Amino acid sequence: MKYNRMPIEIEAPEEYGYENIKYNLSESSITDQSLGSLGLQVPDLKLLYNEHQGGTALRKLVIQGSEGLTHEDVLITTGAAGALFIIASSQLSVNDHLVVVRPNYATNLETPRALGCEISFIDLAFETGFQLDVSAVKAAIKPNTKVVSITTPHNPTGTGMSLETLNALVALTKDNGLILLVDETYADISFDGRLPIAASLGDHVISVSSLSKSYGIPGIRLGWLINKNPSLQETFLAAKEQISISGSVVDEWIAERVLSRKEEILSATIREMKDRREIVAAWIEKDDLLEWVRPDGGVVCFPHIKKGFEPAGGLAAFYHRLLHKYGTYVGPGHWFELPDTFFRLGYGWPTIEELKGSLLCSPHVYSSLFSMAPTTGEEDLSILLATMQPMLDPRTYVFLTTKDPLDSLPLATLKPQLVVQEDEGTTLVTTESLAESHGFKEPVFPCKKISLKIHSSLEAVGLIAAISNRLKNDGISTNVVSGYFHDHIYVPKGRAEDAMRALADLVEEAKK
Ligand SMILES: Cc1ncc(COP(=O)(O)O)c(C=O)c1O
Repeated sequence: MKYNRMPIEIEAPEEYGYENIKYNLSESSITDQSLGSLGLQVPDLKLLYNEHQGGTALRKLVIQGSEGLTHEDVLITTGAAGALFIIASSQLSVNDHLVVVRPNYATNLETPRALGCEISFIDLAFETGFQLDVSAVKAAIKPNTKVVSITTPHNPTGTGMSLETLNALVALTKDNGLILLVDETYADISFDGRLPIAASLGDHVISVSSLSKSYGIPGIRLGWLINKNPSLQETFLAAKEQISISGSVVDEWIAERVLSRKEEILSATIREMKDRREIVAAWIEKDDLLEWVRPDGGVVCFPHIKKGFEPAGGLAAFYHRLLHKYGTYVGPGHWFELPDTFFRLGYGWPTIEELKGSLLCSPHVYSSLFSMAPTTGEEDLSILLATMQPMLDPRTYVFLTTKDPLDSLPLATLKPQLVVQEDEGTTLVTTESLAESHGFKEPVFPCKKISLKIHSSLEAVGLIAAISNRLKNDGISTNVVSGYFHDHIYVPKGRAEDAMRALADLVEEAKK
């Protein structure tokens, strides 16, 4: 397997530091609970290896009220993430093909990638309300397809699937001899009534869920998979036994207590999440800058910055300003392999006061984050430095001088990046190869160009000074040129890598 860390985990609020975030709208669960808030006191438990499948009483609680399932169909896992890992690693190999919905909870995409299996993505579109088109799934099936993987209610959009669509997928996968994996981690918070546990609809269907999201206890790492096929269950149990033998006695004790109060906990939670959705709806639905698809369940939604509203300085600056100036953290689109014009907003985790008070619900401050005139550019030095994104152009450039009049020069083919006219003559900056092919004999200062991706304002103060100073400390000469949109730094050819390293340090320092 080839493991890569996912942006959503690298940039997770717990990795960034909760204490650095005032309004945390990036979470995908309800408010984190504590033993105290749940009224629990852990007794003197015997800390043995418990039943490998998970405690019988706990497994009975997991399927309580569901027709056609028994506790033998349940395997307790280390969170839903543990279940997804067991399923992917036992069912998919390099020769298999997976059909999976995108965007998605990142692990549903990344573990199959790490396994090296072939993947077809079914991309959900904002324009069609993020709804899954079963005919697209059908069209993606190949002879080596093994698994179809969906998530409902969906993360990051919060949209739900109808029973009709779920039934159509169950039938499609059965007809084709495939496994249907249904990530139901948010199903307990479904605003219009929850779908049946998908695993009850066929023994080729696997349901995955956990206590992390709807019950706010991700810290006990308790989830499960449900499936009626004994031979698959045997494989999943073998995988669990090789990973951890059994689960945590303490986690299972807590889980059992929480699930025995399931109805009471969920009815209060669903009521509250509906109210919270209305707080967000009241803001977004009359907002000029954003659009959304109203979520049907879960605790997240996935607003989109409307076309034509480019935040001042670009999207990286927007998110930086949102966090560093206004203390508000959301999950940008790249967490879900989509453009950062989307962001995931979690409305279930912060307190109501934080949700209402957060910048995103406060139209006055919030609209100042966007530039109504998209061409003004960023002015704030700390934001400029933290989000400048230096990009090294691999080509070598040279400076040329000539006394010939400008209109006699082959500008169309010489393609100068820069033309400076002075009394003594004209300076042109172009690539070394174009200079040579045009017969320029004595080019000077072979150099590399580093461009800053951020759209800086021409009136910004201090950016060039900060960069020149930093490079000066490393003995790197710099020639900085500001275009209307971006700044460009020409550094000696042999020092380009050093310059990039120095600029990366500058970015890191500014982020702090
Ligand atoms: C859809 C979905 N599935 C699974 C998980 C994993 O959750 P956990 O392992 O905490 O149960 C998440 C977490 O964000 C999720 O959103």
